[in-house]
Amino acid sequence: MDQATNLRNMMRNGQSVSKKSSSKVITVTSGKGGVGKSNVSVNLAIHFRKMGKRVVIFDADFGLANIEVIFGIIPKYNLFDMIYNGMSMADVLTSGPLGIEFISGGSGVQELINLSKNQLNFLNEKLLDLDYLADIIIIDTGAGISDSVLNFIVSSNEVILVTTPEPTSITDAYAVLKALKNRKREDYKSTNINLIVNRVSSESEGLEIYTKLNRVTNKFLDINLNNIGFLPQDNNLTKSVIEQKPVTILYPKTKVSKAFEQIATNLLSNNSYKAKQDVGIRSVFSNLMNFKKSKK
Ligand SMILES: Nc1ncnc2c1ncn2[C@@H]1O[C@H](COP(=O)(O)OP(=O)(O)OP(=O)(O)O)[C@@H](O)[C@H]1O
Ligand SMILES: [Mg+2]
Repeated sequence: MDQATNLRNMMRNGQSVSKKSSSKVITVTSGKGGVGKSNVSVNLAIHFRKMGKRVVIFDADFGLANIEVIFGIIPKYNLFDMIYNGMSMADVLTSGPLGIEFISGGSGVQELINLSKNQLNFLNEKLLDLDYLADIIIIDTGAGISDSVLNFIVSSNEVILVTTPEPTSITDAYAVLKALKNRKREDYKSTNINLIVNRVSSESEGLEIYTKLNRVTNKFLDINLNNIGFLPQDNNLTKSVIEQKPVTILYPKTKVSKAFEQIATNLLSNNSYKAKQDVGIRSVFSNLMNFKKSKK
C-alpha cells in the first residue's frame, strides 16, 4: 500500500496523522488558453513522484475536467460531492498513475460561486486535509485573468506561467502579471514567478522569448521572472493527449519528456524559495474563500 493510500485510510477511519510542515503549492497558469498548462501540471507531477514526493493535483479549471482527460481516468466523485453531498477529502481524491492523487473540478462546480458562508467554511476546513496528504500541491488553473486565479497565484510558493512563442500568448502572459501589479497589493512579491516557454523550435527561441519578456516585466512591472526551462514542440505530446496517457509515461524518452524532467529538477533544486508567511494550502483556500465572500 502506498503512502497516500495509507494516509487516506487513516483519515477515513478518523485516525490522526502526524502534522508536517505545509505543502508546497505550485500554481500553473497562463494568459491565453490552450498553451499547455494541464500537460505541464500532469507531467511535472509525474516527475515529482519519481523524485519521491507525494503529489496532489487540484483541477481548478472548474467544470472542464482537464486533468482526468489527460490521465484517461473517470473520477467517481469531485469537489462538488464534497460540498453538496457530504463527502470527505479522502473520498473525492482520485488516484492517478504512480500514486498521484487528484481532485476533479467536475462539471457543475461553477456552483461554487453561489456557496453560502457556511458551505465556504466547510469547504475550507476540508481542503486543509491536503496538507497531510501532499508534499506538493499543483493547482491547474483556467486561462485568463480572474480574481480567483490571481488569488491562487498570490497564495502559492511557486507560480508557473506558461506561454508559447506566439505573440498573443506572450502579451497575454504579460497581462496576467500586469493584473497582479494592478491589484496594488504587495502580496505577489513573496511568490516565485517562473516562466515556461512551451512549443519552442529551439533552445535559442525559448531563451530569446524569456529574455525579452523578463526585460519588459522588470522595466514596467518590477517583476523578475525565473527561467525554469523550455519545452519543445513534440508531436508525441499531441499523440499522448489523444491516447489519454501522459507523455512522460507513454514516451518517457521523447524530447519533451526529458525537458519536463529537467524543469521538475530545476524547480525542486531551487533552494532559494522566498520565505513566505502564511502560504500553503491554508492560505490558498482562505484567500479564495475571502474573494468569494467579498463578491456576495
Ligand atoms: N510541447 C507541445 N508539443 C506539441 N503539442 C503540444 C505541446 N504542448 C501543448 N500541445 C498541444 O496543446 C494542447 C493543449 O494543451 P493543454 O490542454 O495542456 O493546454 P491548457 O493550457 O491546459 O489549455 P486550457 O487553457 O484549455 O486549459 C494539447 O492537447 C496538445 O495538443
Ligand atoms: Mg488546461
